[in-house]
Amino acid sequence: MWENMEKEIDALRNEASAFMRSQVLLVANQYDLFTRIEGRRLKASEISDILGTDGRATRMLLDALCGMNYLEKHNGRYRNSEVSSKLLVASSPHYQGDSLRHRYRLWSSWSALRNVVKTGVPPEEPHGEEVVAEKERTRDYILAMENIGRISADRLAENIDLTDVQLLLDLGGGPGTYAVAFARQYPGLRAVVYDLPEVCPITEEQIAQEGFTDRVTTKAGDFLVDELGSGYDMIFVSNVLHMYSLVEIRHILSKCFHALNPDGRIAVKDFFLNEDRSGPLFSQLFAVNMLLRTRAGDTYTFGQIEGALTEAGLRRLRREKCTEESWLIFGEKERGCS
Ligand SMILES: C[S@@+](CC[C@H](N)C(=O)[O-])C[C@H]1O[C@@H](n2cnc3c(N)ncnc32)[C@H](O)[C@@H]1O
Repeated sequence: MWENMEKEIDALRNEASAFMRSQVLLVANQYDLFTRIEGRRLKASEISDILGTDGRATRMLLDALCGMNYLEKHNGRYRNSEVSSKLLVASSPHYQGDSLRHRYRLWSSWSALRNVVKTGVPPEEPHGEEVVAEKERTRDYILAMENIGRISADRLAENIDLTDVQLLLDLGGGPGTYAVAFARQYPGLRAVVYDLPEVCPITEEQIAQEGFTDRVTTKAGDFLVDELGSGYDMIFVSNVLHMYSLVEIRHILSKCFHALNPDGRIAVKDFFLNEDRSGPLFSQLFAVNMLLRTRAGDTYTFGQIEGALTEAGLRRLRREKCTEESWLIFGEKERGCS
């Protein structure tokens, strides 16, 4: 019995202290530590010189990173572990540092959780000096979406059948990762990435980097109020609906329905909850993230989104698992509906 109790207490303590590990990793990433020491074996004092940080504090941070297997230490010298070289060095094709930078920024919203639970009101947008960094925050956010979506976009492009799609709208497409992956897989496909005016220049950079400016373009606007355009064979809505209320989602989906060609299709990719909201945990935690980061966002149940799609006029709905955490819901516009 005691042994079991000890295990339970350990698990509880680990859960309650998980923020320590997060902060050590996120701070190291904020200093670009892994990129700056890549390929070298350095003493703590040499690393603190490179980073411009305090010697004693840096040594403690480096040791903790060794315990977490992001660094290795031999004869008092530190170097990147294999996983850090692969995921945390900016020149690596698998780089996740932008995603970590975005998570570092989430920290301040999450620190407000206690108050938000009391008031139901998310923390205010940053004021003063922080506003200067607004552009940088948008950039981190959009590049984080690229880091997160890179593998799942390529995998989805291989598995989704878009042979009959000539024009695809990637609604709230952010970095355009999915639009580019679809265009790469389907040479006859053209795509429009629709996003806010401040995001589109970043999207365009990403599209150019991938060499797809001839077939993937951007359209700047606010999809709640502006036109979406028309003539789309497919509208792809990935990780967008959770930012909005159900009323707004119905409005967005209705606009999508009208922007589709007859016979057009919609694919909603998102995190979903069971009908009684009892799981999965990732989706439940994501709902808390939306509580903190948006005015009215949430994680929705399959039934809620399928209901909204049906109300918008879409038929023959079907679900497909997409990644460990996300699902796709497909819906069709039947010929004769407008
Ligand atoms: C979580 S990101 C998802 C990006 C991309 N679809 C993906 O799955 O990687 C949500 C995107 O929706 C865009 N967005 C949110 N509200 C919007 C609006 N009202 N009009 C246009 N774009 C919007 C954001 O700027 C952001 O790029």
